[in-house]
This record gives sequence, structure tokens and C-alpha cells, in this order.
Amino acid sequence: MRQKIVAGNWKMNLDYAEGLALFNEVSDLIKTDITGVQQAIVCSPFIHLQSLAALAKGNIAVGAQNAHQNESGAYTGEISAKMIASVGAAYVILGHSERRQYFGETNGLLAKKTDTVLKHNLKPIFCIGETLQEREANTHFDVIKSQLVEGIFHLSADDFAKVVIAYEPVWAIGTGVTATADQAQEIHAFIRKEIAAKYSQAVADGITILYGGSCNPKNAPELFAKEDIDGGLIGGASLKARDFVDILKVFN
Ligand code: PGA
Repeated sequence: MRQKIVAGNWKMNLDYAEGLALFNEVSDLIKTDITGVQQAIVCSPFIHLQSLAALAKGNIAVGAQNAHQNESGAYTGEISAKMIASVGAAYVILGHSERRQYFGETNGLLAKKTDTVLKHNLKPIFCIGETLQEREANTHFDVIKSQLVEGIFHLSADDFAKVVIAYEPVWAIGTGVTATADQAQEIHAFIRKEIAAKYSQAVADGITILYGGSCNPKNAPELFAKEDIDGGLIGGASLKARDFVDILKVFN
């Protein structure tokens, strides 16, 4: 059985007090409402990480939304994987489409970030997904394959097994337009097939693949019922405790 995960991506939202309040609300709801073994992950801004990691218990873990590719040094304003690990975070989102789009992150850079994050025993939540133009041009399978090959297929099978993949079609992020469950399943199955071809069926069967893009408590049941969809990476709906935990509850 693959691990079922619902990860919240708070993006650049919530000041320190607001973040703590939301996290406590989520923890309380999880205690009362979640009866399964599904994993909740809260990916907060760096500012909140240390405090949230100290509060994270049971099936809640904490993650960052980015990490620098280098170990340390003269990179003003950046945060290293070692720093993230040192405060007790367990995950790091890498390659979110907003990082690719607004900060110029390429597959090659993300391959380096993945190595550094794994070196510090953090688990990458590696995001891939096509833009609307790429889907309309019918190049979405090629785009996703390149993101896999250039971003994470250099890893050993042991390291690869630590990666969580998030398929997030860029056209569905923050737009209110969700991929249909069939559209998402088609890509998830494709991703798993590529992993099986590169590594093995056993490795492919063990990898958690999340769907992200306007996922909410209403559409999550249909998405998560699909064979290859193992949970979600949630933006907007993760800022409301009730919605986030309702999405997690789909796996009860
Ligand atoms: P959204 O964001 O749920 O607000 O569409 C998802 C994401 O960007 O991870």
C-alpha cells in the first residue's frame, strides 16, 4: 500500500501568529476527525517552520517550500537544506510551477536541489506539470517526461524511493479549474509507467503521486478514488483548516 498524503502549500500567506493559529486548528481537527493512517504535511513559509515542527506530532509533518541548491555560503537571502533539516522539518517542495515561472528554476537546477535536499535527509515533494499552451499543443506527455528525466531520474533507486511526486497542471493552479479525475489519472498512470521503465515496477508501485491544482473537499473524493492518485498538494484550500482536514478525511 502506498502512503496517502495530503500536503498543504501555504505559499507566501499568513504572518507568524496567523500561521500558528491555523496549524493548531488543523492539529485539533486531525485529532478528532482522522481515523486512518494518511499523512498530513504543512508546507509553511520558512518563518514558521521551527515553531510548527516543534508542534507537529502523530500524522502531521512540516515542510518548506524551497531550498537552495548549495550547502552554504554567500547567497544573500537564501535558506539551505541543512538549515531546514536543523529545525525539524521533514519535507521540501521543489520545482513548484511558481518557482519555475517567477524564479527561473529549470529542471537542471532542480536536479541539484533534489540532491542537496536528500543529502540532508529531507524528502522532496517534486512538482511537475504542463502549461495550458503545452497541453493545447499536445506536448504535455513530453514536457512531463523531460521534467522527470532531467529533474529526478538521475537518482539511485534508493533515493528515488524517498521522493513524493506532485502532478500539478499549471492551468489548474489557483484558477478554480481542476483537471478532471480522468485527465489527472491519465497523467499519473503515465508517470508511474515511466518510473517502472526507468527503475522497476516495485519502485513505481511504492511512489506516492499527488494531484495539485484547485483541489478542494468537493472534488477530492473523485480524484483520490483513482488508482494512481495518492493524495493532493493543496494551495488555496490549505489556508482553511476545515477544508484541508476534509480533504485529508477522504482517506478515512
Ligand atoms: P491551488 O494551488 O490548490 O490553490 O490551486 C495548488 C498548488 O499550487 O500547490
